[in-house]
Amino acid sequence: MKQEEIVLEVNGTTYKVSIEPWKTLVEVLRETLGLTGTKKSCNEGECGACTVIVDGKPVASCLVLAMDAQGKEILTIEGLSEREKLHPIQEAFLKHGAIQCGFCTPGMVMSAKALLDENPKPTVAEVRKAISGNLCRCTGYQHIVDSIMATSGMMNRKA
Ligand code: FES
Ligand code: FES
Repeated sequence: MKQEEIVLEVNGTTYKVSIEPWKTLVEVLRETLGLTGTKKSCNEGECGACTVIVDGKPVASCLVLAMDAQGKEILTIEGLSEREKLHPIQEAFLKHGAIQCGFCTPGMVMSAKALLDENPKPTVAEVRKAISGNLCRCTGYQHIVDSIMATSGMMNRKA
């Protein structure tokens, strides 16, 4: 089967991999690089489970060909925590009960991170808009919104 060699920058590490050219970014992250924190669910851009940050923007990685992600900075959920230390957004999700089955969580956290990087003091409406592409069938969203607002407050206090 035809293979292409591509170079990806993921979580600050350079990976050179041979892939079939039609592989999507989520497939290469999970199956080739072993970064299984990013989830694949609908595989058609509807659920947000596969959200990663590409050049600062949240992106559904099931809609992007891996070869088109070359030359960009890709951040996945694995790149957020520092060794054993969780990112403040992850801590807030735990503290506020925003995780039930957890399947949506990595994508939610990445959407939240992209929002707070760009807008450190969002309103509730802005938070809801930022996660509107991330479906959660368990939590009813309120605890997720609370977590993101709490993280924003914490980051503001630190600033
Ligand atoms: S798996 Fe990509 S949006 Fe659902
Ligand atoms: S916690 Fe189960 S889908 Fe969100």
